[in-house]
Amino acid sequence: MNILLLGSGGREHALAWKLAQSPRVDVLYAAPGNPGIAQSATIVTLDATDHDAVAAFCTEKGIDLVVVGPEAPLVDGLGNSLRAKGIAVFGPDKAPAQLEGSKGFTKDLCARANIPTAGYVRTTSLEQARAEIAKFGLPVVIKADGLAAGKGVIIPTTAEEADAALMDMYGGGFGAAGAEVVLEEFMTGEEASFFALTDGKDILAFGSAQDHKRVGDGDTGPNTGGMGAYSPARVLTAELQAQVMERIIRPTVDTLAAEGIPYSGVLFAGLMLTDEGPKLIEYNARFGDPECQVLMTRFQGDLAELLLAVANGTLADYGPVKLSDECALTVVMAAKGYPATPEKGGAIDGIDAVSGDHLKVFHAGTAEKDGQLVANGGRVLNVTATGSSIAEAQGRAYAAVDGIAFPTGFCRRDIGWREVAREAAAAS
Ligand code: AMP
Ligand code: GLY
Repeated sequence: MNILLLGSGGREHALAWKLAQSPRVDVLYAAPGNPGIAQSATIVTLDATDHDAVAAFCTEKGIDLVVVGPEAPLVDGLGNSLRAKGIAVFGPDKAPAQLEGSKGFTKDLCARANIPTAGYVRTTSLEQARAEIAKFGLPVVIKADGLAAGKGVIIPTTAEEADAALMDMYGGGFGAAGAEVVLEEFMTGEEASFFALTDGKDILAFGSAQDHKRVGDGDTGPNTGGMGAYSPARVLTAELQAQVMERIIRPTVDTLAAEGIPYSGVLFAGLMLTDEGPKLIEYNARFGDPECQVLMTRFQGDLAELLLAVANGTLADYGPVKLSDECALTVVMAAKGYPATPEKGGAIDGIDAVSGDHLKVFHAGTAEKDGQLVANGGRVLNVTATGSSIAEAQGRAYAAVDGIAFPTGFCRRDIGWREVAREAAAAS
């Protein structure tokens, strides 16, 4: 089969790497891709916002499956446009993609389906938000309703900060994403992510992960897209995963199907493990970045076949997803200045020397300039390793990081710290 993969980050490099391993794939195309993806796919120029152009390309090249990496094209309805032309797509239509595109949509769904999540109020004006916020106490969680590239959540600890955040959101500080603002009760606990594939009827668990959102060691500094991740997240025990499936994922899939907007693709559930059990923080309609890199490293099977089964609604024919018993950990090497103003163009050397069964470097934001690999984004490389423990994977990943010459880059030195500490405590 021929596949078109859309996206240009480390997530898409991991997907391309795994898709290219499938004996069923004839040609894998990627747009816009990156130099890492180019090792596994034929790079083509396509604008994902031009649905007709994407559809025309698929017809011309006989594409059997389009795999959409990031959320924006899904929320924009690319899935609908392609399916209308009979092209199979991995990723939900526009209406169910609101699980990521509208926080209020997801909260209302949770309320209808009795899914455990934080208490909330949707607001549509500054006056209403000011009137409602007092009900929540402090800290309170304030969210722009729409897509805000991971920056739309503010957790003020004083009434003044809360009011400033509301004024900013309703003042246009978050663009269209802030036209509606959701207020939420603050939940406490450890965060973990759970992934499931669904074709709208059947569901297959696709493993767990934890990431590090803050830019600095010790989880300090501003939020980022993620500075590293590991899988599995052992805090999400088999028992808790069964609860998440039964109380969160299954009712989500069933409710959307019953309401005539079935969800097809991957559900990425951000969870808070509270004293009362796992509660949903948010959904994403795509694989996480960099969570995808550790999941693909552990995935054992034919990814092309599996994603096609999701797209074609034949997941019932597919057995459980098999992930390696090994642990995987990825360290993000970012460009100095990330997340605010990453420095572009810095030279990167030494990636080719990173080799071995336990190691893989995914390109997140790179470009080639006159034969030299350079930084071309905030998050630049994802140095990924496996091991029999998170500690072993961590040791291998940092040894590889230390062999890469990227003078204008930086990384956190403590990815996996929670799990490494737990492993050490368990061993002593
Ligand atoms: P989100 O974009 O909805 O995942 O939120 C980003 C981050 O904000 C989450 O990873 C949590 O750390 C935090 N967060 C969001 N909602 C809540 C909540 N209701 N209670 C506590 N923390 C939250
Ligand atoms: N790493 C978090 C995300 O992909 O949203």
